[in-house]
Amino acid sequence: MNAYAERVRRLPPYIFADLERLQDELTKKGVDVISLGIGDPDLPTPRFVIESLTSALTEEGSNNYSSSAGEDYFREAVAEWYKQRYSVELDPATQVCSLIGSKEGLANLGRLLLNPADKALVPDPSYPVYGQGSTILSDAIPVPYSLIPEEKFQPDFSEMDVDAKTKLLFMNYPSNPTAAVTTKQILEKAVSFCSEHNLTLCYDNAYSEIAFGSYRSPSALQVDQSMRCSVEFNSCSKMFNMTGYRVGFAVGNREIITGLKKIKAQIDSGIPRFVQRAAASALKRYFDADFTREREKNNQILERRLDVLVSGLQTVGLSPIKPEATFYLWVDVKMDGTEFVKRLLNAGVVATPGEAFGKNGKNYVRFSVTTDKVVEAVQRIKKIEPH
Ligand SMILES: Cc1ncc(COP(=O)(O)O)c(C=O)c1O
Repeated sequence: MNAYAERVRRLPPYIFADLERLQDELTKKGVDVISLGIGDPDLPTPRFVIESLTSALTEEGSNNYSSSAGEDYFREAVAEWYKQRYSVELDPATQVCSLIGSKEGLANLGRLLLNPADKALVPDPSYPVYGQGSTILSDAIPVPYSLIPEEKFQPDFSEMDVDAKTKLLFMNYPSNPTAAVTTKQILEKAVSFCSEHNLTLCYDNAYSEIAFGSYRSPSALQVDQSMRCSVEFNSCSKMFNMTGYRVGFAVGNREIITGLKKIKAQIDSGIPRFVQRAAASALKRYFDADFTREREKNNQILERRLDVLVSGLQTVGLSPIKPEATFYLWVDVKMDGTEFVKRLLNAGVVATPGEAFGKNGKNYVRFSVTTDKVVEAVQRIKKIEPH
């Protein structure tokens, strides 16, 4: 066989696939492991969403191709949700595109905007798809910008390394992995920075609805003039515990949305219609009182688990900061994170070494509270060697 293309060889290993494999191997050997590794919610998909999916299965045409841009009713539901949630007006025909999960859209964005040897500014640490699936697989170069605790994991635009080849700035809040949140003022700075340097702002808002207390995550599209240079990604995955349904959306700048549709038309044939029906019903009922209660209850469950983990980690000498959003804890373990993860594994707990998200994650571990076994996990963590 011919060698893999150069761009594939430049990809570092996708750590989450490795983690899943490791966990499977241990489980097959009969080892009882608790996974705080992968950000896949264990909480159920709302019942009405499942009902909507099953009834849509028997609708005429449900077995046929959809379009890669998304059915009208789905794009309209997304636009309506943006209006109610953020007071942002979107034209469903030209400013919304369906995605097979936001990961797919993030990866295709690079193909749309990056020529070979172009550069994308990528947070370090961050979700690996920005630098790898989107940038490296477009033969372009990820240029990391640091997110550090001293700056509350916010970007320092004055430090960013921009030249004529720089085309794209990735930002993600509430953040995976740092769990940091951002403010409208910082988003305003991001929009003016991108306008000044002729960059596209790619804002990933995948965790917008996992928030605690009074915190409400902003949208980049709430910023004046943002439509000129921004595209925002979100999905039903974390919002409605629908990761396996694979349904997300890109919204924002018309040219970018048109371009994404053009690329996707060459690659996919759309999300199954019954999934789009289910997702549209989820978005439409988002603000109903009964679903609001369900959502709040789910977020309280996640918050309680975070509380348990925070106090458990404090007893082993660590100082985790409880986040305002996401189901992650980003913990400085004061030693090599991968080494710490190995110790955890020996105690029967899986977590993700911070280095999987970038160099700045070297002494960090990311914990995800997407299991109801957090209390038991803490018991196990307490048994690892103190440091
Ligand atoms: C920051 C971030 N963005 C995007 C995604 C992709 O989610 P999906 O493709 O399920 O919409 C994830 C998944 O974990 C994520 O953590």
